[in-house]
Amino acid sequence: MSVSTANFSIDPSGPAPLLVTLDGVTQPVPALWLREQSRDATQLDLVSDQRLFDPHRLALDLSIVDARVDAGHVFARFSDGHEERFALDELAIAIDPDDGCPDPIAWRTDLGSPPRHDWRCLGDPTGLEAALHDFLAYGAIVVHDSPTSELTVLDIATRFGYVRETNFGRYFDVRSMPRANDLAYTTVPLGPHTDNPYRVPTPGIQLLHCLVNETSGGLSTLVDAIAVTDQLRAEDPEGLDLLIDTVVRFHFRDDDTALDSHRPIVDVDHRRRVTGLRYSPRLDHIPLMSNEQTHAYHCARFRLAELLADPAFAIKFLLNAGEAMVFSNDRVLHGRTGFDPQEGMRHLQGCYIDHDAPRSRYCVLRRNLTRSFASLAPKG
Ligand SMILES: [Fe+2]
Repeated sequence: MSVSTANFSIDPSGPAPLLVTLDGVTQPVPALWLREQSRDATQLDLVSDQRLFDPHRLALDLSIVDARVDAGHVFARFSDGHEERFALDELAIAIDPDDGCPDPIAWRTDLGSPPRHDWRCLGDPTGLEAALHDFLAYGAIVVHDSPTSELTVLDIATRFGYVRETNFGRYFDVRSMPRANDLAYTTVPLGPHTDNPYRVPTPGIQLLHCLVNETSGGLSTLVDAIAVTDQLRAEDPEGLDLLIDTVVRFHFRDDDTALDSHRPIVDVDHRRRVTGLRYSPRLDHIPLMSNEQTHAYHCARFRLAELLADPAFAIKFLLNAGEAMVFSNDRVLHGRTGFDPQEGMRHLQGCYIDHDAPRSRYCVLRRNLTRSFASLAPKG
């Protein structure tokens, strides 16, 4: 919903004097809702933007006893004696369920490759804001022209957020090794998957930085879970609902670690829009259900797997030395083609960060850049 779609009006003859119209639907504004939006200095700490009262202590029978709408504001007097002029743009922001970040743009194979951003521009607010915008919209970007020195991946990560340490450490090396505890450390092809579905929370964002790639194989593959689940919803909405609502068990074991999570394969946000998947078909275990439920779930999961493997959804490209993929671990499934280690070295380093920091940095950069541009505007 756009904040510009909220319109406030007065209904002096009705039981609630203040009305709001959203997308053509008009409803009364509850007094309890409006009262807790207070931005009066007696009700809100204006430095921290944190409330100075407990809204659950407001009287249940609180009412708006007088209301007026004038240019850009709503004036309201409440039955508890509080009165305030509320700015309409502030109320519209309070109604808007979104946070100001770009909406996801679903993509298929015709995207070609993720948007590319020069590492040397990420120290500049405008360059970083552009990279964050594309990451939030597409779920994946490639950072190019970065150094090929070890641990550069951590420097790139800190441009976007905070490195999340796991039992694999602050970073991990991706190259073939004997007796590997994960297939990532072999030369076999890897189908589209998300990392660490057994972890709570799962790592939000993954970075893979290429130090050296002398092989002709080992292409990186990415698939957009939003595009795939859009297709599944169009074909079989009940099947998609099963994948959203059925809790599956994921687990990981090695000598030092025992991790379990119980989560659905398909994740949705507060508006039931798909945000991503937990998908690693070597690690998921369905719950004990009736035979009918099991068959229905199996069909939905099978179709999801078919779509994830459909070349129409995949982009495939060679990650060269000095390039790093930054991708949403849950929204964008990753994989790679097999490679022949006899051709030469292939060495990537990876790490994880969470989703919150890039979203915050984007919002703060937008706010600061908007202020900067406003200060540059001619004064008249
Ligand atoms: Fe992986």
